[in-house]
Amino acid sequence: MNTGKSVLLIIGGGVAAYKALLLIRLLKTAGVGVRAVLTAGGAQFVTPLSVGALSGEKVFTDLFDLTDEAEMGHIQLSRAADLVVVAPATADLMAKMAAGLADDLATTLLLATDKDVLIAPAMNVRMWDHAATQANLATLRARGVTVVGPDEGDMACGEYGPGRLAEPEAIFAAIEAALAPRLSDLAGKRIVVTSGPTHEPIDPVRYIANRSSGKQGQAVASALAARGAEVVLVSGPVRLVAPAGVETRKIETAREMLDATLAALPADAVVCAAAVADYRVDGAAEHKLKKADGAGRSLTLVENPDILATVSALPEGQRPRLVVGFAAETQEVIAYAQAKRTRKGCDWIVANDVSQGVFGGDENAVTLIDAKGAEDWPRMGKDAVAEKLAGRIAAALA
Ligand code: CTP
Repeated sequence: MNTGKSVLLIIGGGVAAYKALLLIRLLKTAGVGVRAVLTAGGAQFVTPLSVGALSGEKVFTDLFDLTDEAEMGHIQLSRAADLVVVAPATADLMAKMAAGLADDLATTLLLATDKDVLIAPAMNVRMWDHAATQANLATLRARGVTVVGPDEGDMACGEYGPGRLAEPEAIFAAIEAALAPRLSDLAGKRIVVTSGPTHEPIDPVRYIANRSSGKQGQAVASALAARGAEVVLVSGPVRLVAPAGVETRKIETAREMLDATLAALPADAVVCAAAVADYRVDGAAEHKLKKADGAGRSLTLVENPDILATVSALPEGQRPRLVVGFAAETQEVIAYAQAKRTRKGCDWIVANDVSQGVFGGDENAVTLIDAKGAEDWPRMGKDAVAEKLAGRIAAALA
């Protein structure tokens, strides 16, 4: 399927570098050309000879391999492939990529390339958790770098946690997806996505909120944008980097979310993935509440506007053609979600079983519910849920 495609594979240092050899075999079997670059660290773990034997191509190890521009310059090498893959991506390589350093062949190619980049990090769990690595990760993601893994498990260094290189099959699957022809079946369509929690103030320093991470909503926004849609993301407070290629409008409260959503219309579709607070505090205090002022103090709550129901009820001409809601349930998922779809008047509900800690996690088990019935999707990553949903939305708006 990928015949004719090729990747530039940069193999960083680390015990997991041997998995890069398995990855090369998977790619070659699928008809994907592989040109490999070994960093100095990578060459400590796998030899150019074994990499070259598997890839069937010359292996590059040093910037000076390329000084003979008659053979191939580094600019050409960085752009000849369809995709640049870094596996394993060490903490050092990620830091250099984030900073734009170019002090060896691998980092020079990464800085010079105009192709998409996919990295599979692998490192000690503390190095992975370190604020510096996490900041670099956020920077790379925001620039559109695809990140696969790391997996969680026992590590060669004896510790346990996230940091293991993703399995070759998982990296291969991500490469296949990255090499697949780009769909632009949502080009010319405008879609509004709500995402994240809302914060409802109690006083200037306190608020009511929930555990929504915003990951699923942002993944939906990214997947829609990747298919060519013009996307407005109306997001409550989240700890995520705003996705690339999407116009993000930040709000705090449910009422602000409603205003921002209505202001972003007209649109072809609206996807309400936000976990909106159902209630707000009636008359939030202007000044910080003092403990001394009231033992047994209680809050009076008033209901917030329902954004999904409001958009669904817009008169013809203003109502988007497709309105999609999410339903987080912990029991009788399909029955409650089907009732919610009818009550709120939306077209589809993505029902979400949150009884097993979906909030904040990277996976989701959902059921797509429309007027005709319910379709269970297998448990998959939130990105995969988003892509599948984007595909359905594209088909519905076609
Ligand atoms: N929603 C919304 N505005 C609200 C409340 C919910 O737009 N004020 C949307 C959510 O974004 C989601 C859907 O409605 O798409 C379902 O949210 P959920 O919290 O499951 O529904 P509730 O109306 O709160 O129902 P219940 O609490 O009874 O389960």
